[in-house]
Amino acid sequence: MKIGILKEHKKGENRVSVSPTIAKAFIAKGFECIVEEGAGFASSFTDADYENVGAKILNQKELFNQANILVKINPFSDSEISMLKEGQVTISTLYHMSNPELIEALAQKGVSSFSLDAMPRISRAQDMDILSSQNNLAGYKAVILGAYEMTKIFPLMMTAAGTITPSRVLIFGVGVAGLQAIATAKRLGAVVEATDIRSETKEQAESLGAKFISVDNKGETSVGGYATEASDDYAARQKEAVNASLAKADLVITTAFVPGRKAPILITKEQVELMKNGAVIIDLASGQGGNCEVSKLNETIIHKGVKVIGTTNSPESVSTNASELFGKNIYNFIIHLTEENKLKWDLNDEITTGTLIVQEGKKLKN
Ligand code: NAI
Repeated sequence: MKIGILKEHKKGENRVSVSPTIAKAFIAKGFECIVEEGAGFASSFTDADYENVGAKILNQKELFNQANILVKINPFSDSEISMLKEGQVTISTLYHMSNPELIEALAQKGVSSFSLDAMPRISRAQDMDILSSQNNLAGYKAVILGAYEMTKIFPLMMTAAGTITPSRVLIFGVGVAGLQAIATAKRLGAVVEATDIRSETKEQAESLGAKFISVDNKGETSVGGYATEASDDYAARQKEAVNASLAKADLVITTAFVPGRKAPILITKEQVELMKNGAVIIDLASGQGGNCEVSKLNETIIHKGVKVIGTTNSPESVSTNASELFGKNIYNFIIHLTEENKLKWDLNDEITTGTLIVQEGKKLKN
């Protein structure tokens, strides 16, 4: 079975879905790996690195002609879809709920398409979960970006010239990115506080050394590990609970998402105005509307002395590691889907049914 590793042509995307180390692991399992020329370049992997582990470099057209499974990170573009052939299998993100035309176009081609962002949140799927592997890096990089943008350092420092007090970091959303942000900011010596609508995150935040700001969630719970949309009442109580910390924070990192919906606004314009001159907000949710009312995707805005940075490209900025982890997720997924290098099509398996969006031209999900 030939696995075709595509180059990401989306602007600003530096990652590749399978690194040379992972290509080597596939080949050791009896798969053939064919790689679009230059696919790993922006992640610091050369074509020679892939060839050295036994993969073959091809141009895009040839790769589409030969591959049985085509893998990439971003959804297939129109020009890529035009090159697909009946019977091929695609693995990528598809965000199928917000991309019905894309799903229709894939179905029209008679292919089978799996969407990695639809991976169920169950323990046996943990090592295939790209949202988890990439958000972990996003949480780390948000703290590093914050450190670079702040005019202060994180740790307590006692010097002959005086004592520097530690910076205060406040994190909204204690999911995968938030937990890594807590751990990273703590390691750098900051005083860290965090809050989340899911009360079960209190213990996790505290175990990493953060102070948890509890907001009585009055039974508002999570579904399948994800938060549900907060009520207006919860949002008002949350505001009240966090404002004192917000006013003292040097760095705020927001990571809150509710699947299938616009990101919740957790910091209004008025709340930004409560903050200190020189404070920094990194809004990791800005691709989905943002957790901060004034943030804009891929822009840095100074609002009344507060620097508000909207970014979603943290994993792309550490593309070597991000590609290694993404590749390992894909490796585990393909191994799970196949038996003796053939697809099993086990439609009783939750991982297969959760991620299979189109099967041989038939739409299974909209
Ligand atoms: P996410 O990216 O959907 O959201 C990030 C965080 O924002 C969540 O903790 C969520 O509760 C919080 N949030 C949403 N609305 C909020 C609001 N109004 N106020 C405050 N916080 C709000 O979540 P993520 O990072 O994907 O993780 C969700 C959970 O799933 C975690 O417990 C994680 O450990 C679990 N998980 C399980 C996996 C598995 O078992 N295969 C894989 C990955 C994550």
